[in-house]
Order: sequence, then structure tokens, then C-alpha cells
Amino acid sequence: MQVLVVGAGPSGLVLALLLAKSGIKTTLLDAASTLDDRPRAAHYAPSAIRVLKAAGVLEDVRRDGLIPKNMTWRHRDGKVITSISDVAQSWTPDALTVLPLNMLGTVLLRHCVANENVTVLWDKKVTDVGSDEKVAWATVKNKDGSEERWTADYICGCDGANSQVRKSLFGNEFPGHTWDAQIIATNVYYPLDKFGYDDINFIIHNEDYYMAAKITTDGLWRVSYGEDTKLSLEEVIAHQPTKYARMLPGNPQPGDYKLLNVGPYRIHQRMAPKFRVGRILLAADAAHLCNPFGGLGLTGGLVDVGGLAECLGGIQMGVADDGILDKYDEIRRQKYQEVINPVSSSNFLRVSATDPGEALVKDEFLMMVEKARTDQATRNELDQGVFAVCHNFTQYYNKEPKEAARL
Ligand SMILES: Cc1cc2nc3c(=O)[nH]c(=O)nc-3n(C[C@H](O)[C@H](O)[C@H](O)COP(=O)(O)OP(=O)(O)OC[C@H]3O[C@@H](n4cnc5c(N)ncnc54)[C@H](O)[C@@H]3O)c2cc1C
Ligand SMILES: *[C@@H]1O[C@H](CO)[C@@H](O)[C@H](O)[C@H]1NC(C)=O
Ligand SMILES: *[C@@H]1O[C@H](CO)[C@@H](O)[C@H](O)[C@H]1NC(C)=O
Ligand SMILES: *[C@@H]1O[C@H](CO)[C@@H](O)[C@H](O)[C@H]1NC(C)=O
Repeated sequence: MQVLVVGAGPSGLVLALLLAKSGIKTTLLDAASTLDDRPRAAHYAPSAIRVLKAAGVLEDVRRDGLIPKNMTWRHRDGKVITSISDVAQSWTPDALTVLPLNMLGTVLLRHCVANENVTVLWDKKVTDVGSDEKVAWATVKNKDGSEERWTADYICGCDGANSQVRKSLFGNEFPGHTWDAQIIATNVYYPLDKFGYDDINFIIHNEDYYMAAKITTDGLWRVSYGEDTKLSLEEVIAHQPTKYARMLPGNPQPGDYKLLNVGPYRIHQRMAPKFRVGRILLAADAAHLCNPFGGLGLTGGLVDVGGLAECLGGIQMGVADDGILDKYDEIRRQKYQEVINPVSSSNFLRVSATDPGEALVKDEFLMMVEKARTDQATRNELDQGVFAVCHNFTQYYNKEPKEAARL
């Protein structure tokens, strides 16, 4: 089987590594000249860690990354509302791990380049895709303007939020909504731990809500805060020192910290109408978007590609028929609707639109977190909850391997 993956972002690279293990030859086509190094996702939940392990990269991810300790919700003055100790579940092999996306990309690309079953090609922009009963095809534009046509058994669109694969299937149809806020993702060296902050912190405030998390072992922090959508990029950058001075403990002035990046972005809750049309499949940001509070964006994307690899791997091994891809479509959309969308939406509303003084009596999730501090059964429930996005597609394998061998 030959698979074409559009997009060498984290989801495409992991998908290729998983498919390679089943002996599927994969070519990745990316429009860019190299990895995207903007500061984006950094936290990978236990469900995604299982996928990284299956792809054979977890050891490298753990060597470069860190396993955070406590996750704490706070008032703007830093006072603790409630907290989950050892939120990563460090006692399990699937412990949540932190590694900035650009560093994850480097690890993934190194593994792909070394893999005999994976080919990564840059400066190949996919402009259209289609398929019939027998084959899938993609139109590809090179940097010099020349066009090529590629064919494969299946094409997987892992080409991110502005996915051309999705647009070729559905035009601009991408149902959902865009929040009336922009999130400013900043990377900064500032010793928040010296002020009593934990490894992951959510500050609940209607205007100055933010997340602050340690993202590297050398003390780099991600501080992601909200701004009015009316502010332009210049205004966002000009306003950043005021925001920091008002929000962060110690009320730091620009000389007190080393700011590396300021990346504003709009946030959305959107899902494509289908994740499968014929021989074309969608996964990760190309298929669905959510706001970043709680880190369900890429986690959901990695769980998608883990499932998709089980489906395509089953077809390759002759233990599943092509109908398993309809299961992929059905169940991954259901997981978005029942888990990713509602959970990420309430994560955002919890920090940005909740009265911090009433959070422990009105917010059901925080009430559960508080209870879990003293009640082990509630804590177990909380720990198991992180696997709600998972689904094991091998249960739809419906042929004996022997039968496959005879065919
Ligand atoms: C500024 C920013 C900050 C973010 N912060 C967070 C965060 O803090 N936490 C979180 O969970 N998530 C965050 N996200 C989202 C998270 O980074 C994404 O969920 C994740 O990167 C999705 O991975 P992906 O592989 O699906 O897509 P991407 O990482 O977007 O990769 C898509 C790839 O496809 C390529 N491509 C695009 N179009 C084409 C084409 N036509 N032909 C060929 N190749 C193409 C691109 O060059 C790119 O390499 C953030 C996103 C942004 C933009
Ligand atoms: C590549 O595929 C072959 C089967 O075609 C398989 O034997 C081999 O183990 C695969 N290589 C890797 C690195 O997964
Ligand atoms: C995490 O929380 C636990 C329980 O409240 C506490 O004992 C521990 O000191 C905290 N760890 C860190 C690193 O703050
Ligand atoms: C998925 O289910 C199969 C049985 O259908 C089982 O053998 C396998 O271990 C499961 N995989 C995971 C990751 O739980």
C-alpha cells in the first residue's frame, strides 16, 4: 500500500512513522521549506503519549522534555483556588510530557528521515485532491511553479487549520464558531516558580486570564493570555509589558524577564463535515480545531493519527476491509463532539468567564478537582478521564490473518 500524507507537521510525521511500522510506504508532501518553528503546542496528555510511544519516539521526547508536577488554578493575585498534584500521572509509563512543538518536530523529522519506509519532501504545495474506487490523486505545485500529479492508495490530509485537502472536499464548510478573543502565546524566561507558581497554572480572571506553564528544563515558561480581538499585532505587542506587569507575580518590568516570542492567534471550535471521503482522510487540525486551554489541540490530533494508523495498518495486513475507515470517520467525529469540543470549551470558559470567588461552588470540574485532593476514588476518575478521547480500532479487525495470506 502507498499512502500520501499532506503536511509534515507533528500529526503527519507521527502518522508516517506509525504506517511505516505496518510496512506501508508513505510520502509526506509539505508546502513549506522546513519545519514550522512557531511557538505552539507543548503539552501532550497520556492519551497522546501512548501514540508517541507506538511511533517509537517517546524515549527521545522524554530525554528532551519534562514531566510536570502540579496543576493549579489561581486568583489573579496568585492565591490558590485548587490544585491537582502530580497531574502528569508520573507513576504510569504514559505520563503527560512537555516539549515545545518545534523541538518535538525536530525529533519526529529525524526519525522519519532515518526510516526506510518514509519519504519527506518539502516545497510541495498540494492544490487539489480527489479519488475514485481505485486510486487517490493530488495536484502538487512546486516552488518553480511547475505542477505534478501524485497518486496513492490513500491520501491523508494532515495539513493543519487551513487544510487544502479539507477545502478540496468541502470548500469553506468548516462548521463551528470562532471565539471573540485572541490568545497571545508568549515564551519567556522569568522564574515564576520563585513566586510559588506550579509547573502548570491557570489564572481565572475575566480580563487578565492566562495559563503559565514551564515548558523546558532550562526554565522557559509559556504564558498564554487573552486580548481583545480589536487589537492589531502592533497594539498587542505594545500592550504586552502592561499585561505582564499587571498579571504576573512580582509585577515584572521588561528588564526583569527575557521575552523570546509573542504569537497572537484566533481561537476556534470547528469540525469538518466528514473525516473520510472515498480514499481521502482528514486528521488533527485539518479535521478539527479547539482552543488551547487544556492542551487538547494536538493531543486530539495525535490520538486521531494513532487510530488512523490502526485502520490503514489493518487493511495493509489484510485483517480489516476498507469499511474500517468509515469507523474512523464516525468515531473520531464523535470523540470531538462528545469530549474535545465540550471539554476544551469549558476549559476556556472556566478561566475567562467564571467568578474566581465562586469557582469552587459553581464549576463542577473544579469541585471534582477539590474533592480528588482527599478522595482517592475521585482522583482515579480524574486520572482515567484523560483517556476519554481514545478509541481502539483494532476491535474492528474482521478477517483472520490466515485468510488474508491466502488471498
Ligand atoms: C500560534 C499558535 C499557537 C498554538 N498554541 C497551542 C497551544 O499552546 N496548545 C495546543 O494544544 N495547541 C496549540 N496550537 C495548536 C497546535 O499547535 C496544533 O494543534 C498542531 O500544531 C496541529 O498539528 P498538525 O500536524 O495537525 O498541523 P500543523 O502543525 O499546522 O502542520 C501542518 C503542516 O501542513 C503543511 N501544509 C499546509 N498546507 C499545505 C498544502 N496545501 N500542501 C502541503 N503542505 C501543507 C504546513 O506547512 C505544515 O507543515 C497553536 C497553534 C498556533 C497557530
Ligand atoms: C518497512 O517495511 C517493511 C515491510 O515492507 C518492514 O519489514 C520494515 O520493518 C519496515 N521498516 C520500518 C523501519 O518500520
Ligand atoms: C504538589 O502538591 C503536593 C500535594 O499538595 C505537595 O505536597 C507538593 O509539594 C507539590 N509539589 C510541588 C513541586 O510543588
Ligand atoms: C486494542 O484491542 C486489542 C484487542 O482487540 C488488544 O489486543 C490491544 O492490546 C488493544 N490495544 C490497546 C492500546 O489497548
